[in-house]
Amino acid sequence: MNGRSITIQNLEAAFAGESMAHIKYRYFARVARAAGDEETARHFEATADQEVQHAFGHLDLLYPAGKLTPARALELAIEGETYEYSEMYPKFRHLAVEEGNQAAVAEFDQQIAESKEHADAFRAVLEKAAKRFAALTKVEEKHANAYREVLERVNAAARAQAAEAG
Ligand SMILES: [Fe+2]
Ligand SMILES: [Fe+2]
Repeated sequence: MNGRSITIQNLEAAFAGESMAHIKYRYFARVARAAGDEETARHFEATADQEVQHAFGHLDLLYPAGKLTPARALELAIEGETYEYSEMYPKFRHLAVEEGNQAAVAEFDQQIAESKEHADAFRAVLEKAAKRFAALTKVEEKHANAYREVLERVNAAARAQAAEAG
């Protein structure tokens, strides 16, 4: 047991399944179109679009929009891509070498490079966003300070008036 709710684990499995169905049907559509079967290709594409909606339904529960910020989404993306290039693909590559599957080795190498590129690009976007956020916080802090100063002056005036009246 890893302590996570069985339903959360099932949602993750269902999300993976629907996502795979989506991509697989897109691939099947390509194959059908290349074979000249446009009707089958279109049917696969239409169904693939529905699988995306099914996958979104699971994501709504796995990553509730109310709890997800763009920064958190970027962090999750960086985590995923980093896992791919630093753990998953290197392990797969190693096993492909052992099995002598050169095509898979080459493909894993390419995926390692691209996952790393994706992680780096997401990180750059996150850093830019963080700067934007820091600048915004500064402006808000300025406003808050200005407001506090006015409030203090008003309070001081009120105290002075009260002292005079007393
Ligand atoms: Fe589905
Ligand atoms: Fe990627």
